[in-house]
Amino acid sequence: RGGQVARLPTIYATLQLKIMPKKTVLITGCSSGIGLALAVKMAKDEQKRFKVYATMRNLTRKDKLEEAAGRTLGKTLEIKQLDVCSEESIKTCVSSIPDRKIDILVSNAGMGLIGPIECQTIEEMRTVMDTNFFGLVRLLKEILPDMKKRKSGHIVIISSVMGIQGILFNDVYAASKFAVEGFCESLAIQALKFKLQLSLIEPGPVITEFETKVFEDGMKMDLSAADEETADMFTNIYLKNYKQIFQSLGQSAEEIHTVKIILAENPPFRHQTNTLYTPMTTLKYADPNGDLPIDTFYKMVFQHDKIFSASLNFIKLLSHLTCWPTVFTSI
Ligand SMILES: NC(=O)c1ccc[n+]([C@@H]2O[C@H](COP(=O)([O-])OP(=O)(O)OC[C@H]3O[C@@H](n4cnc5c(N)ncnc54)[C@H](OP(=O)(O)O)[C@@H]3O)[C@@H](O)[C@H]2O)c1
Repeated sequence: RGGQVARLPTIYATLQLKIMPKKTVLITGCSSGIGLALAVKMAKDEQKRFKVYATMRNLTRKDKLEEAAGRTLGKTLEIKQLDVCSEESIKTCVSSIPDRKIDILVSNAGMGLIGPIECQTIEEMRTVMDTNFFGLVRLLKEILPDMKKRKSGHIVIISSVMGIQGILFNDVYAASKFAVEGFCESLAIQALKFKLQLSLIEPGPVITEFETKVFEDGMKMDLSAADEETADMFTNIYLKNYKQIFQSLGQSAEEIHTVKIILAENPPFRHQTNTLYTPMTTLKYADPNGDLPIDTFYKMVFQHDKIFSASLNFIKLLSHLTCWPTVFTSI
């Protein structure tokens, strides 16, 4: 009898697992990178707490996700088409979900753009804004009313540290993420009234297809519309250091740990994923005039470039040592 009593908590936990309805999660941009890693992690949750709708704009790119999802495919993970630039595609996808009930929305789809603005077309810039900013707006126009009615839901947005601080030659990308941050700051107040949660995830560099695509586009860019000094700055300073920055500071998609924020009892409004990057974003809050981060980045890039490059090498070296986690979790 004593043994039966001792087993009660386990039996209770198993029962609870069976009785507790799964949370429905919709994630955008799951053909690669952060979206793919998150979808698979949630679908493989040991406690089977989630039903994941992993979406992508182009279903011919689903192989990598299918392979990573393995046995969860068709069970805790379903793949659906969703293009954040198409209201019709969002509507069709959301309406195909039972009762249109989405408990957790992860707005992840996004794209980058680098280079001197003189060499980018307005159309290219518009596509970045349309994907990174209006993509989120379109999703929320379709999903937010249902969440408000139910007075429950968590909206998680993959923003960026560039939603807090602009970086050389990332003018339009940073603008798109600033737009996301401003939009969410305003919406968060209303969300609170409806008991909804809103969280911005702000990664630094992450080693995904994003990095490769952006770099290759930068290398191919026609710089003839820029003056010599700007073209040289972009090629010989920005592009030259690009790979090194990702190799030294870059996290893997699995290290973004969005699930921790989703499961938190009181999820934060903002979460920066990379402790190595935090000193840079802190500069912004340290000076209300805004000069400190701009001066610091200027000096780092144009006056102390050798020290900057040496520090990146040093960080890269440290990251290969076993003491890495202990050293940096205390920062
Ligand atoms: N990598 C970084 O350094 C970094 C840093 C901070 C923040 N972020 C943010 O993290 C998010 C994910 O990026 P990632 O690094 O995982 O890059 P990624 O591997 O390139 O993934 C981006 C995903 O977005 C999808 N996408 C693009 N346009 C779309 C549209 N119109 N509709 C639906 N999906 C679309 C892509 O689909 P296709 O395969 O069809 O192109 C892809 O699945 C983005 O919002 C990005 O801004 C990335």
